[in-house]
Amino acid sequence: MKRSPAIGLAIAALCLAPLSQGQRTTTGSGSAPAATTEAPEVGIPVTDPLVVSKCGTCHVKDAKGNLSRISYARTTPEGWEEAIKRMVRLNGLKITPEEGKRILKYLATYHGLAPEEAKPVMYMAEHRMIDETNIPNDAVRTACAECHAFGRPLTWRRSKDDWQLLENMHVALYAQAETHFRRSTRNPDGSAITVAPAAAGAAPTPEPGVAALDFLSKNAPLHTPEWAAWRARLRAPKIAGKWLVTATVPGHGIYFGDMLIEPAGADDEFKTTVKLKSVKDGTTITRTGQGIVYAGYSWRGRSKGVATPKDPDDLTREARETMWIAPDQSSAEGRWYWGDYQEFGFDVKLVRGSSEPTLSGVSISSIKAGSKAVPVKLYGDSIPAQLTPADLDFGSGVKVTRIVSHTASELVAEVEVAADAVNGLRDVELRRSTLPNAIAVYDKVDYIKVTPETALARLGSDVHPKGYQQFEAIGFNRGADGKMNTADDINLGTIEATWSVEEFYSVYGDDDKAFVGHLSETALFTPASDGPNPERKFSRNNYGNVWVVATAKNDKDKFGKPLTGKSYLVVSVPTYIKWDQPEVNP
Ligand code: HEC
Ligand code: HEC
Repeated sequence: MKRSPAIGLAIAALCLAPLSQGQRTTTGSGSAPAATTEAPEVGIPVTDPLVVSKCGTCHVKDAKGNLSRISYARTTPEGWEEAIKRMVRLNGLKITPEEGKRILKYLATYHGLAPEEAKPVMYMAEHRMIDETNIPNDAVRTACAECHAFGRPLTWRRSKDDWQLLENMHVALYAQAETHFRRSTRNPDGSAITVAPAAAGAAPTPEPGVAALDFLSKNAPLHTPEWAAWRARLRAPKIAGKWLVTATVPGHGIYFGDMLIEPAGADDEFKTTVKLKSVKDGTTITRTGQGIVYAGYSWRGRSKGVATPKDPDDLTREARETMWIAPDQSSAEGRWYWGDYQEFGFDVKLVRGSSEPTLSGVSISSIKAGSKAVPVKLYGDSIPAQLTPADLDFGSGVKVTRIVSHTASELVAEVEVAADAVNGLRDVELRRSTLPNAIAVYDKVDYIKVTPETALARLGSDVHPKGYQQFEAIGFNRGADGKMNTADDINLGTIEATWSVEEFYSVYGDDDKAFVGHLSETALFTPASDGPNPERKFSRNNYGNVWVVATAKNDKDKFGKPLTGKSYLVVSVPTYIKWDQPEVNP
């Protein structure tokens, strides 16, 4: 995109002039500052000479070492990467890739998020498709969550002035932003508020942009106790060594194994070798790769299998890795993902290998009450050579009858469950190592859910890649209150099902089911090709909406009919324009 220099200058004036004491700009009012009584916020001085020399040419430095804008914002590696890229593309910053990498490391670490701040927004870096439940109200949704995820702002912390400048930048650069910020909010019934509901003495409803500014400056401020604590506690990641991995891959089940992390030069860069074994069929995967740890806890890596991948969901495909390492550096969790829409991935949990008996995972997620001689495989490290059933504990109503076999990393125990055992999750314990809520005990599968409950796949061909969708059937027990679909329901894990596609009746006679694509026996949906289809009425393309239906193989309802569940799948056109894809992985 080409912008006239005049606009560039106007924006620079709007956003870069250091705000003097107690002044702030407001949306729509250009650069005219309005006096307020609030004291200006203290910035985070930039001490890295490279950042000062590269960014300080435009971002004015004050007497305390603060660079305008940069000292008033903190964010994730992805957030900084995106901001730096925009500086290059739109504002004329010139840096080499090597300088970019060093600047990114510095800012993501010293102007980063505390681990506690990053955790609730890890879904952004992990590229998960979720329904965001963190949007406080409709005004804020209208302002900030209709063009991109609300996670976009929530991955930043800024001073109030800087949140305002970000809104100003949106108004200057992104068509429609001002309409969003000034649009009236909606009545509870969804109708637009056309007349201000100015009951006598009541405060007028704030514009969405104002409501968002208020919410973000209070809930995502520059200075927080979490950040102050982390800034002091921050240390180099000492994570080399063996980690035990439990990976869950939708459609493929659970894998166990380990990740060997080795130093790779700089104290925040590492090499990895991962070995995983499938619980379902014992097949193994080896992956090798490398990673960078930003801010002392944010793993961003890349790895691939040693075997050549065939299918789109092949577990040897190259994946980008995102993990949140716990502040005490003893565990980590995250997602290793791939696919053109990042739709495939391993959900991983890691614990450090140990010379103490340590459990990392268990082979089954639930056991039915009244079962006898059920083999349960446990994975871990330093499992003692001398073991008796008394070393293990599976919680109330579950008895370990015998230890079938064991090595240092795997053990098989046989358990039986009392017929009257209480429904619910049990911890599994090996001496002093505990897997919390590891196995559910249940009397009955009461219903099943197909996940994701609403799903999106994308037509594609050679030009525009397809967006696949993997489904799973999850069994649930009604829980202690005896009612289905309440908060205490117990997730029993995936259950065996047969899969089918049903018409979703929205357009008369469009027969989407025949065109949208193919659902495999293992519930992987492969969309059809994009482009008009001459075989279809009006030569429409293959888009459509359908139900994806799971029919349980073993579990029945009270009338003796198999349990079923369904998900609503929209098969849409490819994404023709991709917004920036921040790339912070090595
Ligand atoms: C050639 C001038 C120039 C250089 C060099 C420059 N910037 Fe900027 N920067 C701007 C302008 C102009 C704006 C305001 C408009 C905008 O937000 O794009 C800005 C805004 C920003 C913002 C606020 C954006 C937001 O999300 O609200 C950040 C953060 C930033 N710059 C970071 C950097 C960093 C880090 C560097 C050095 C690696 C840098 N800039 C170098 C011109 C520059
Ligand atoms: C009209 C659409 C639109 C609205 C409304 C909108 N944004 Fe954005 N926002 C964008 C676009 C486009 C980008 C840049 C996307 C990209 O480069 O991937 C962006 C980028 C961002 C970024 C990244 C900053 C950077 O330096 O690039 C943040 C943070 C952000 N928006 C926060 C907000 C907040 C807060 C609100 C509400 C006050 C908001 N957005 C409302 C379209 C919008």
